[in-house]
Amino acid sequence: MEARLFLAALLLSCTPIRTSPTSGDVCTLQQITKDKVSYMTGKTARGCVSRSTVGKLQEVHVLQVKVETQMWPFQLNVSSARRTTSPERKVLFVIICDKFCMVTVHSADLHPTFVSNNMVYGVMGNVATTFDQTSGEQLVQQVKDHYDNVTSFTELENPLHIRFRVGEDASSPENCIVQAGFNAWRYLQTEFLVPEVKGCTSPSAKKGKEAHILRVQQGPAETSSQPVEVKVTVVCPEAKPLQDLEILLILQSQPNVTWNIDTQRTVSIMASGKYRITRFPSEQLDERVLPDSEQGLIGLAHQRGFDDIASYTNIPSATHVILELHRCEPEVKTPPPTPAQHPKTVNIVQTVFNLLPPWKCADDSIEIVVPKMNLKDLNDYITDITLQDPRCRAEQNQTHFVLKRYLGDCHTKLESRILARNKLILTLASSLEKVEVPFECSLPQELRLQLYRTQDFKWPSTTMLEVNKAAYVQVSFRAGIPLTFLEVKECSLQISAEEPQQLLIQPVAPLSQAETVLEPTEATLGRELHRFSFIYSPAGGGPFPPCATLSCRVAWRFNGSTSMETLEVTLQDTRPPPSSLGIEAVVGITFAAFLIGTLLTAALWCIYSHTRPMAKLQPVSTNAPASESSSPNHSIGSTQSTPCSTSSMA
Ligand SMILES: *[C@@H]1O[C@H](CO)[C@@H](O)[C@H](O)[C@H]1NC(C)=O
Ligand SMILES: *[C@@H]1O[C@H](CO)[C@@H](O)[C@H](O)[C@H]1NC(C)=O
Ligand SMILES: *[C@@H]1O[C@H](CO)[C@@H](O)[C@H](O)[C@H]1NC(C)=O
Ligand SMILES: *[C@@H]1O[C@H](CO)[C@@H](O)[C@H](O)[C@H]1NC(C)=O
Ligand SMILES: *[C@@H]1O[C@H](CO)[C@@H](O)[C@H](O)[C@H]1NC(C)=O
Repeated sequence: MEARLFLAALLLSCTPIRTSPTSGDVCTLQQITKDKVSYMTGKTARGCVSRSTVGKLQEVHVLQVKVETQMWPFQLNVSSARRTTSPERKVLFVIICDKFCMVTVHSADLHPTFVSNNMVYGVMGNVATTFDQTSGEQLVQQVKDHYDNVTSFTELENPLHIRFRVGEDASSPENCIVQAGFNAWRYLQTEFLVPEVKGCTSPSAKKGKEAHILRVQQGPAETSSQPVEVKVTVVCPEAKPLQDLEILLILQSQPNVTWNIDTQRTVSIMASGKYRITRFPSEQLDERVLPDSEQGLIGLAHQRGFDDIASYTNIPSATHVILELHRCEPEVKTPPPTPAQHPKTVNIVQTVFNLLPPWKCADDSIEIVVPKMNLKDLNDYITDITLQDPRCRAEQNQTHFVLKRYLGDCHTKLESRILARNKLILTLASSLEKVEVPFECSLPQELRLQLYRTQDFKWPSTTMLEVNKAAYVQVSFRAGIPLTFLEVKECSLQISAEEPQQLLIQPVAPLSQAETVLEPTEATLGRELHRFSFIYSPAGGGPFPPCATLSCRVAWRFNGSTSMETLEVTLQDTRPPPSSLGIEAVVGITFAAFLIGTLLTAALWCIYSHTRPMAKLQPVSTNAPASESSSPNHSIGSTQSTPCSTSSMA
């Protein structure tokens, strides 16, 4: 049923043949940047295979890569042809690149050895080589001289992604004789990016109605076997993809090519040869022969009423073609300028940042430090770096971009309590193009003791303890599971080595009620929080030593072991002691119950008497918000410098 409707829509949109004056217009193709066209093929620039390593100790595969720019990143996925690989079968790759390439290898549980004149990432062993950048034949000879035999040789120009299947074929020729245009489909598929996507439009073109023309020069070997898979997607990284879009897809190749079209959109199709829509595999449709010329195909689109030739692409030979159209729904509010990203630039920038990741997740903040040195190979300057929230902008000095923000801000997303995700948005100087680098980082699983100035526990924490003023203490713990793990056994304040410790919180009920426990949620940044507050008032208003040590003993619920967390704090007097405490010359520790919710409403105060000074405990105001809050204006250097060093874990 759906198939019928879909086909009806196709036929309907193909029927009206317009004889408008535009059909004869000459359309000059120009480069456009908004769309990405990539294709996969088994075809190589040059290559060969041989059976000369069958039965030998190891397979030897030679990849010669020629690229047009420095810092060329590409991926190599290595899989095995055999269902079960014998573990002793060794595989060696020799990768020679004519410029600086960045090869990232994924090889599952195969463990190939790499010999390269470049850096190879993602593998354990990487042996530098003296093999020269030379002709294919000479390279094959050099490798043969060194390793006896060569299993395969492949020369590729500007590859993006190589899928390589190791394994040998006893039916291969005895010798690896290099051939131009060698088809390596038996062991390799390479993804290439079309470097220049071209298009042309006329002023009369109707919005939301566009034609895409794809010409594939299939060689005889390809046409006989597989159909060409064509995938059309509409994407919008930041907003909703455009829904109201009428697409005409013109596919031209030899008449005996079959096309498989994979798309979630309603697309009108004109194809040479036969085609099939992946969603409706049983329907095979015939088309006629299409014109074999640029203007002929453009004219065909115009005749169908599509004046906007959104893309016109010539592809040498392919098994898969992917058309990724960047089209966003116009936003009702402020339409953000859709960044026109050149896929190659994006790829290089993303690779550079992923190789030298500048992001770091701390317990409650994200920190970015980008040395400008690392960016010198981009052949462009970066003028600005922000997080996904453009208000979270990195500050820069001569040498670095630096940014430090609270984890709850800047559109940072938390996953499974231990993973933070955000994006860097970089502005390139030459084009003002914005390049996005998505990243994630693991949050440390840690136990911390922190001091805050205000009852909302506002980030960042401090190490300054103000005398005669309420101070707010938090013990935080992060694990991957939403359970409470800790029990705070007791907390105390040690003013000086001679003085005895002042107990702030102890396990004896009802004092333990003074502590508030927040379970790990999004609002607590996935941490389990134990909070309480107190006021420190020295006898008679001072004098007091400059430093003190706050310490809490915590017990792990699941294994019963305990550990001690300490925090060095600087004591600071900001106002005179309250008169009520000054009358009797007592050293008072004023203790505050920090209570939330109805269960813990009873404010309590208690007097704790010690051997020497009398300690006075007194509640402070109690209605604090349950979640940690923050302001977007926090920036670097938020932790105060103190004469006492801060530390945790004792
Ligand atoms: C390459 O390998 C990685 C890791 O196994 C995988 O995530 C990725 O999808 C693979 N890419 C292709 C094109 O097969
Ligand atoms: C493969 O290596 C063996 C051992 O060195 C050699 O005898 C043989 O000729 C080589 N085969 C080819 C095709 O080069
Ligand atoms: C398909 O067409 C091409 C060129 O027209 C021809 O070379 C090739 O042999 C044909 N293949 C088959 C399987 O008919
Ligand atoms: C720039 O900031 C970084 C990070 O804070 C610092 O390490 C570096 O010394 C600073 N450079 C200059 C020239 O101030
Ligand atoms: C108990 O668990 C904590 C947290 O994983 C760990 O640091 C500590 O060493 C454990 N203690 C014992 C005795 O296993």
